[in-house]
Amino acid sequence: MQVVARATDPTTIKTECLVVPVGSNSKLNNPAKTIDKATKGAIGRHLKSGDISGRPGSSLVLHDPEGIAAERLLLIGIGDQAPDTETFIKICREASKVLRALPIRSTASLLCQIKIVGRDKQWSATQFTRLLFEAGYVYRKTDDKNNAASKLGKVTLVCPDPTTQNACKKGAIQGEAIATGVNHARYLGDLPGNICTPRYLASQARALSRKYASIKTRVLSEKQMQELGMGALLSVAAGSKQPAHLIAMEYAGAGKSVRPIVLVGKGVTFDSGGISLKPGAKMDEMKYDMCGAASVFGVMEALAVLEPRLNVIGLVPTVENMPSGTATKPGDVVTSMSGKTIEVLNTDAEGRLILCDALTYATRYKPEVVVDIATLTGACVVALGQHASGLFANDQPLADELLQAGIAAGDRAWQMPLWDNYDEELKSNFADIPNIGGQGAGSITAACFLGRFTKEYRWAHLDIAGTAWKSAAPKGATGRPVPLLMEFLLGKVA
Ligand code: BES
Ligand code: MN
Ligand code: ZN
Repeated sequence: MQVVARATDPTTIKTECLVVPVGSNSKLNNPAKTIDKATKGAIGRHLKSGDISGRPGSSLVLHDPEGIAAERLLLIGIGDQAPDTETFIKICREASKVLRALPIRSTASLLCQIKIVGRDKQWSATQFTRLLFEAGYVYRKTDDKNNAASKLGKVTLVCPDPTTQNACKKGAIQGEAIATGVNHARYLGDLPGNICTPRYLASQARALSRKYASIKTRVLSEKQMQELGMGALLSVAAGSKQPAHLIAMEYAGAGKSVRPIVLVGKGVTFDSGGISLKPGAKMDEMKYDMCGAASVFGVMEALAVLEPRLNVIGLVPTVENMPSGTATKPGDVVTSMSGKTIEVLNTDAEGRLILCDALTYATRYKPEVVVDIATLTGACVVALGQHASGLFANDQPLADELLQAGIAAGDRAWQMPLWDNYDEELKSNFADIPNIGGQGAGSITAACFLGRFTKEYRWAHLDIAGTAWKSAAPKGATGRPVPLLMEFLLGKVA
């Protein structure tokens, strides 16, 4: 699909579907007014008849409108005031869904002409383009029923005037790259655990460095991790036939003296719970326990496409968590790379065990900041559900940056505390630290555990257990928090 930005007369544009924003009050916005006039009042009539309410996200397709060159009109409700960030994203998502379901090969959109509270044209173009590409994602690897691909090939963003054309063009390029990252993350997440193994992720990382010159990949073997003393990470892989890996993808877009941003993604390709076996219901969804890793892959690819002046390292500790005669048992004590000993009280609290060694390994990059991304706790789903990722940080300016990035990208996070009171729950009789806390606040004590290993740099942790995939139909990975991370990273480019 190709997206172009053009300042042109929407009444004469030849397209199979023209997307027109309409308000629920009769004060039509400017682009709608132009089309209403050219079509001799078609928009006004359909609002009046109630065929379209004009509420944000409501929609109506009209065929063969008279007076304009477009073959169809897609009227899309925007409400009765200037939409805010969340509303605009909802509008774009609905429009994209309708466009992807129509048998069309081309579309032109007037959505970038409306005013969005606090946002500019580049932002609107980024979001519309991103959501249109995201709506084209279809999982096909193991299901050829999923074949009804949309034929959309040509998209025109109709800009209000020639002065905004460049901003819209820039937005379209960014939006496409971010969607490429999101869809890449979704694909890896949706792959079944018997295909997407730690070895598969390592091969995908190598493939990324073959495809893009700006990315170098190293993969550490179990033997190399042993030599580094990564006893925590290796203890999780002990019950599985699949060997563990630590993947490092290095994106170099700035000079060597620029300190890198390190992203660490939890890559548990299947989490059975280990000897502390999970109950059977919905256990299939634990193939998604590598969605933190998937988001790191998505970000690396989006960076390689856009080539911003940044250095970013993507670290992925990846294992399969299984019960067997060689598995780690509750009560076992392991030694992490940091030298701290850990009492494994619950083998299902495995994410923190692989992350702590990767977080220690991250110090060798002398990072500017480190952000880890993990489907870490069921407790985070209880606290925040599927709408916000949990955010924890040992540095408030960093937390604020990530929160703002999430708002701007329609991929929100919500900050939770890392108070000493919670940290004090991590007491073991037989090691420096246990791998679980007390009864409540499971996502906070998990974050406090990670915080014990991140004293040497500015660090944030995103718990994406509730946001990385949807259990309800349509079931599937969301690609979150790639939009948040890309907004954060692109905001760092001077
Ligand atoms: N991967 C799970 C967390 C999870 C559970 C994410 C359900 C999404 C949905 C993680 O490894 C885990 O099992 N955490 C335990 C920790 C507990 C044993 C302290 C949990 O949340 O129950
Ligand atoms: Mn677990
Ligand atoms: Zn897990």
